[in-house]
Amino acid sequence: AADYGGGPGTFAHDHGETAGQPRLSVEQLVADPVRRADVRVDLAAARATLALGAKAVPGFTLNGTSPGPTIRAVQGQLVEVHLRNVDVADGVALHWHGVDVPNAEDGTAGVTQDAVLPGHDHVYRFVAEDAGTYWYHSHQLSAAQVAGGLLGALVVTPRPAVAQQVDALALSHTYGGVRTLNGVAGDQHVVTAPGRSVRLRLVNTDNGLVQVWGSAPYTVLAVDGHDVNRPTPVSGPAYTLTAGGRVDLGLTVPTDGSAVRVQVSKGLAVVVGPDGAPDVAPPPQPTAQVDLLSYGSPAPVGFDPATATRRFRYSIGHRPGFVDGRPGLWWSVNGHLYPNIPMMMVSSGDVVTVHLDNHSGEAHPMHLHGHHAVVLARDGVAATGSPWWFDSLDVADGATYDVAFVADNPGIWMDHCHNLEHAADGMVVHLMYT
Ligand code: C2O
Ligand code: CU
Repeated sequence: AADYGGGPGTFAHDHGETAGQPRLSVEQLVADPVRRADVRVDLAAARATLALGAKAVPGFTLNGTSPGPTIRAVQGQLVEVHLRNVDVADGVALHWHGVDVPNAEDGTAGVTQDAVLPGHDHVYRFVAEDAGTYWYHSHQLSAAQVAGGLLGALVVTPRPAVAQQVDALALSHTYGGVRTLNGVAGDQHVVTAPGRSVRLRLVNTDNGLVQVWGSAPYTVLAVDGHDVNRPTPVSGPAYTLTAGGRVDLGLTVPTDGSAVRVQVSKGLAVVVGPDGAPDVAPPPQPTAQVDLLSYGSPAPVGFDPATATRRFRYSIGHRPGFVDGRPGLWWSVNGHLYPNIPMMMVSSGDVVTVHLDNHSGEAHPMHLHGHHAVVLARDGVAATGSPWWFDSLDVADGATYDVAFVADNPGIWMDHCHNLEHAADGMVVHLMYT
């Protein structure tokens, strides 16, 4: 079988038998309808004019604010969200970005549900199986509705709880050109006692990359909701946070009464320290970057990528053609334009590898729904650090990645660029279970 070969109109995969394939069951596609919810949240989506300092930006709110309420659950709890669309004319659907929910709960309008029209509602139910930092956002006309503020954070804490840790969250979003943390166009202040250790959860809901660096050493504790194995503190380099991605940083508040300043790109920071701590000057932006390919220590990933039963390629380019009847130069995948990009067809239980390459002239943050994949190699260089699990991966122009995952969540899933205008312009592939 040819690896990553692919004739016209088809994804390359070998046609080897997958012995004893489990069949799809309805139970795998939906959440248990009988179980009582542990966490119930009502979210009302509405049009609004957002006040950002002196600027008024047209957008949307959930329960009157953007970001919407942070949903918090303990690992294993059943989360039930009642979405009501008050007056968002184009309809709304809520996607649980990074949470490997049953397919019917994925909230992708046109794929797993219809958009919820004004005056209507929809209930989502899923068990928060994995502790980590996630977010939710509308997946109907995402480019406009995410930028406009139909989003919020979702935090799943482990059971048993991690003792003696301050848990802080900063969701980075730009509204009409105004950069914010947690919806505020200014620094976030987290008041803590000297000597405390802090888990700072950062969420990048914008299209581009966000650079994060600190005035003190920090540890990369988790990426896209997956703990890093044996992370070590870094004191020089910046962390690059992918569009749609999340990172949990570990910090220790100094014992001398001073604060730690974590820059979230230029101009905004999370300041962590005791009440009344003197201002910390913004540390200069480092040029070096934390490289997850070699960060932390190796650990088993639970499957052997060498036994892959499906091998795909995802080659990003651009070419002239028509998308939605519009002529232009569009992003292409394996030479095809949406909707003519073949699906990645898998069966439940397959070990899947994907070779991504990008020769399109621009970076693309790729987001896979319903699954977490692990990076095997970048530009042909094998990963040597902690397993680098992701659901959102920035693929720079000229870069190649080899990634692998287990097809363990039946349904039909999107794998698309999270520069959401690009997705609207057709950078979308579906992962389809047969
Ligand atoms: Cu965060 Cu398909 O999206
Ligand atoms: Cu893109």
